[in-house]
Amino acid sequence: MKIISVVGARPNFMKIAPFIKAINTYNERHTGNKPTPSPSREGNLKNSSIIQATGSINHILVHTGQHYDDSMSKAFFEQLEIPEADINLKIGSGTHAEQVGQTMIAFEKVLKAERPDWVVVVGDVNATLACSVTAKKEWIKVCHIEAGLRSNDLTMPEEINRLVTDRISDLLLAPDTLSVENLKAEGVTDSKIRFVGNIMIDTLEANREKAEKIDIGDIIKRNYKGSEKSAVMNLNPANHDFAVITLHRPSNVDSADVLGPIVDFLTDEVAGDLLLFWPIHPRTKKMLAEFGLSEKVAQHKNIVLLEPLGYLDMLRLNMGARLILTDSGGLQEECTVLGTPCLTLRRNTERPVTLRDHGGASVLVGNKIDVIREEYHNALQSMRTPVRPELWDGHAAERCLKAILEYGS
Ligand code: UD1
Repeated sequence: MKIISVVGARPNFMKIAPFIKAINTYNERHTGNKPTPSPSREGNLKNSSIIQATGSINHILVHTGQHYDDSMSKAFFEQLEIPEADINLKIGSGTHAEQVGQTMIAFEKVLKAERPDWVVVVGDVNATLACSVTAKKEWIKVCHIEAGLRSNDLTMPEEINRLVTDRISDLLLAPDTLSVENLKAEGVTDSKIRFVGNIMIDTLEANREKAEKIDIGDIIKRNYKGSEKSAVMNLNPANHDFAVITLHRPSNVDSADVLGPIVDFLTDEVAGDLLLFWPIHPRTKKMLAEFGLSEKVAQHKNIVLLEPLGYLDMLRLNMGARLILTDSGGLQEECTVLGTPCLTLRRNTERPVTLRDHGGASVLVGNKIDVIREEYHNALQSMRTPVRPELWDGHAAERCLKAILEYGS
C-alpha cells in the first residue's frame, strides 16, 4: 500500500509524528527491517519510487511549506523525530487563495507522479483543504485525521477547510464522540467514520517525561527575544508562579481595536499579578509592530517575550503554568489532559470536549475584556484537574493506521 501524508503548518506536525511512527512500527513487524530514510525528492519526482519490501507500507511525507521558519517547522521535525519531508512544495505565505491554489498545482504533480492509494491529511489548515480536494479529483482515496470538529463559524478559514475536507473524505477519523455525532448529523454514513481518539495526545504522552525535565530558566535563556543582558535572562520561576499567553487568530490580532485592549489587559492586569510568558507567533509580531504596541509589551518587566517555542518547551510551560490564555485549538486539548486552567480567547470552539461544561479545563471568553477579566480571576482560584476524554490514551495513531489498513487499497 502506498500512502502520501501531508503537513503544512505548525499544528500538523504533532499530529503526523505518531502516524509516521505507527507506519514504521508496522513495517518493522512485517519486514523485520528498520525504516530507511528515502532520498529527498525535491525536483526529482520522475525518479522517486522507493523500493519497498512486499507487504510493507510505502510512505511519502509531503510538506506544503506553508510554515517555513525554523522555529515554526524544522524545530518540530527535529524534536518530534519526524523524518525530513520527502517532498517540500515550498508554498510559503500568501493569501488563502494563493496558498490553496499554489498547493493544489504543486500537489497535483506529486500525485500524478506517485499515484498513492491514499492521501492522509490532518487538522484544518490550508494544506488539509488543498491536498484533500486535489487527491479526490485524481480519484485517490482521502483519509482525514481529526475529522468532525465543528465551530459552526464560517468566518474561520479553518471551519471551511474542515467542512470541505470531511465532505469529500473516504475515511473520517474522529477524535471524540461529539465529532462523530457532528458527522452523523451531516449525513456521513457510519461506514466512513471511525472513532479513533486524539492523535495529538499520542505526542503529548510520548514527550511528557522529556518535557518534565526541562528547566524553565533554560527556556528563557534559549528563547528570550530581548537583550542578553536583561534581568529576565536570570529568571527561573517555580511552577504556578507564571501564566502563558499565545495569540495568533486573525480575529484577535489583525485589528488594533481588538488587540489594543487585550495588550492593555495583559500589561496592566495579568502581568501585575504574575510573570507572563508570551511566545510570539509571526503574524502577531507583525501586527503588534503595525499597531505601535511592540514597545509596550517588550518594556514590561513582568512580560517575557519569547520566540515561537518548540514542542517540548511549550509542553513544559503548560505543565507548570498557573493558567494559560490562548486562541489555539491544540493548547485547549493539551490543557485539558494536563489540567491547566485555560481561557480560550474565542467566541466558539470546534473542540467543545475541552470546555469546562464537558468536564475539560477550558472556558470560552471571546475577546471582550470584561468577560476575560472575570474568568481570569476565576481561573486564578481554580485547581489543576487533569481530564482524559475517551480514547485520548496515547494510542490513536495505531487506530488510525488500522482503520486505513482495514479499509484497504
Ligand atoms: C495557520 C493556520 C491556522 C493555525 C496556525 C498555527 C490556515 C488557514 N491557518 O495560521 O489554522 O492555527 O497556522 O500557526 O491554514 N509567517 C512567518 N513564518 C512562517 C509562517 C508564517 O513569518 O513560518 C508569517 C507570515 O507573515 C504569514 C503569517 O505569519 O503571512 C501568517 O501565516 P499563515 O500560514 O498565513 O497563517 P497562520 O496565522 O500561521
